[in-house]
Parts: sequence; C-alpha cells; structure tokens
Amino acid sequence: MKHIYPFKSKVSNEQRKEQMLQESQLVWFTGLSGSGKSTLALRLEHYLFHRGHKVFLLDGDNVRNGLNRDLGFSADDRKENIRRVAEVAKLMVDAGLIVVCAFISPYAEERELVKQIVGESRFMEVFVNCPLAECEKRDTKGLYAKARQGIIKDFTGISAPYETPLLPDLEVKTGEEAIGESLLKLIEFVEPRVTMQ
Ligand code: PPS
Repeated sequence: MKHIYPFKSKVSNEQRKEQMLQESQLVWFTGLSGSGKSTLALRLEHYLFHRGHKVFLLDGDNVRNGLNRDLGFSADDRKENIRRVAEVAKLMVDAGLIVVCAFISPYAEERELVKQIVGESRFMEVFVNCPLAECEKRDTKGLYAKARQGIIKDFTGISAPYETPLLPDLEVKTGEEAIGESLLKLIEFVEPRVTMQ
C-alpha cells in the first residue's frame, strides 16, 4: 500500500511461545446457524482456559455487535466480516494466544482466505456438520421460522448458500453425536496441537 511502512517486531514468535508456554493456533468453526458452533467453541475455550492455556473466543453474534456492526448478510458483507475477523485473529495469534472463532463462514473461498491470512501451520478448520432439517427443527433463536416467512432475508441454508467444507481438519456430526461426544473429539484433536512439546 502507498506510503505505508510496516515494521517488524523485535520480539520473535519463538520468544513469545517460550513466554506463553503454548503453541498459538486459530481454531476455526464453520457450520450452519444452530449447528452447535458457539456451544462447542464456548466449551472448548472453557476447557482450554482451565487447563492453563491463554485462549480467547470470537463469535459471530458478538463481533457483529461491535467491530462489524456496520455489516449485514449480503455475500459481500459476509466476506468482509470474515476478512476482518481473520485479520484480528491473526494479530491475536501473533501475540501468542489460542484463538477460537465461531462463524458460519459459508464461502469456501473466505475460509481459504482465513487460512492464508493466519498461515496454514497455525490454522485448524472444524466443520460442525448438522443437517439443515435438524438445525431448523431446533431453531433455538426462532430465526429459521422467520427466514421461511421471508421476515429475514439471505438466511444461510434457506435463502443464502452454505458451501460444505470438502477437507476440514476435523468434522463433528452434531446431528448424530451427543454434544459431549463432539467435545471430546474436539479436545483430542486440538489439545495436542496447542500444547508445547
Ligand atoms: S457469516 O455468514 O459468517 O458472516 O455469519 P456470522 O458472522 O457467523 O453471523 C451469524 C449469526 O447471525 C445471526 N443471523 C444470521 N445468520 C445467517 N443468515 C442471516 N441472514 C442471519 N441474520 C442474523 C444468527 O444469530 C447467526 O448466529 P449462529 O450462531 O450461527 O446461529
């Protein structure tokens, strides 16, 4: 960019890692509304925190209430939402934290962009796979009913697309598994990857 001169910190990632006593990683949850992303992300954050990790959760509904309150749900706004979150997550991972993100992130291209921004070796994609019919049956926030009535436009799965991840690092099937079962799989996958060897 013109007249912009980024500088490099005098503290290396390796030095930060030694101080934080953990591998800084981004755990990215993607899935339909009501699939269980936030529930699992909250529980993972809670678990890792109590295991002594420095961890922080960024969630769609919360971020959209602050940093991204100017964005809606058009394809372009969703892409900008994910791009900004990826940049924030990158800074937090650079700072040595474990970052857990729960966003629908319906486009494969944007999820790929997150991976590029944060860096492949610091990124894990978790697909929270729950069939649309099940999410709609649960309808915990009443949003699917409103989407069917046309009160909410561009609703993921109903009137806006969700591109299923083809090669996620981990898939949990929250339509079939009990939440505890999915959480266990998640912990078994994530914990060794954030623990300093
Ligand atoms: S996205 O697609 O990644 O930009 O979405 P995200 O930032 O994760 O926000 C999803 C939450 O916003 C609420 N909501 C909607 N979701 C999907 N489509 C439409 N049109 C919509 N309008 C509001 C909803 O509470 C989502 O939260 P979750 O936790 O996914 O149910």
